[in-house]
Amino acid sequence: MSRPVNAVPARPLARVREAPAHVMRAGFVWASHEERLERLTRRFPISRRMVQRFVAGEDIDTTMAVVAGLRAGGLKTTLDVLGESVTDATTAKAAAARYVELLDRLAADGADGNVSLKLTGMGLAVDREVAAANLARIAERASTHGAFVRVDMEDSARTALTLDLVRAQFAQTGNVGVVIQAYLHRSAADVAALNREGIRVRLCKGAYNEPASVAFPAKADVDASFRSLAEALLLDGQYPAFATHDEARIREIVAFAANHRISPTSYEFQMLYGIRRDLQERLLAAGQTVRVYVPWGTEWYPYFMRRLAERPANLLFLLRSMAREGRG
Ligand code: FDA
Repeated sequence: MSRPVNAVPARPLARVREAPAHVMRAGFVWASHEERLERLTRRFPISRRMVQRFVAGEDIDTTMAVVAGLRAGGLKTTLDVLGESVTDATTAKAAAARYVELLDRLAADGADGNVSLKLTGMGLAVDREVAAANLARIAERASTHGAFVRVDMEDSARTALTLDLVRAQFAQTGNVGVVIQAYLHRSAADVAALNREGIRVRLCKGAYNEPASVAFPAKADVDASFRSLAEALLLDGQYPAFATHDEARIREIVAFAANHRISPTSYEFQMLYGIRRDLQERLLAAGQTVRVYVPWGTEWYPYFMRRLAERPANLLFLLRSMAREGRG
């Protein structure tokens, strides 16, 4: 029988705090597919308030108001219409249509023409050609607005296919880039190839639960990989983006660029909406470019779970508050 959340005793909370990162990640990957947990999260006012910290809005008007506020503060943006893997071509086509509308709206509002999408949201799990056609439709509309399309990277089972589709679309419109995850063993070779091809890369640590056969399990190894991939991108990449909130990694990148006389205008930092706003502002003040990844839409639950997985403190805060509200 399932336990109500307000019955969570103190000891499991302590265990959450002590759990290794990969255990936390595995737990949340599981949780992100749990419909019962999703219903609970949507019901509690505290979790909805916490969702608002990470998700700009459920509708486009609320989101555009957030985007205008970020822009007024000197930040650039990339918009992600939330929605994970779709299992039929009709839903995938509708998801692509939302991106086309979004690109038109960004252009009409004079906002940054920059969007981020997941190929599983475009139908990659249905059929490679469905995803390719939807990506083409979005990239072509982006092209008419002088906009850019970033293809997020998902779990390692899709890395090669994602790179294939990005390369094919890049050859057609030239306005797509991809994401490389520092935790994957294969990433050094991928970065070298993408640099040669002139395809823009966003480097991140990686957010999925991967086996040691494909990804570094230890944080220190992921950090070292992030550092060496960042250096390769700074030296040979095409306007690379460094997507991290890790101050040590950011300091290394700024120092490496300065030592190699690489201008801060030839790369950018990217951070997630709602995370380390203080750091975003400090970087802006220091003359760096910062782009905020702004997710929006009604399908925020799996994204929200990934953000909780990254930081046990977020989960502790949420569980404690739910327990309080459940008692009240
Ligand atoms: P790390 O996890 O070491 O965190 C450093 C510090 O950041 C923490 O100490 C804390 O202060 C703060 N922080 C990090 N996460 C937080 C959170 N959830 N809540 C509060 N504080 C937090 N992944 C992927 O697999 N595919 C992708 O396409 C992308 N795309 C992407 C775009 C952008 C713009 C960003 C910033 C990140 C991604 N990611 C991603 C996610 C990425 O792989 C990674 O999981 C997170 O960025 C967390 O790693 P950090 O590099 O921030 O370091």
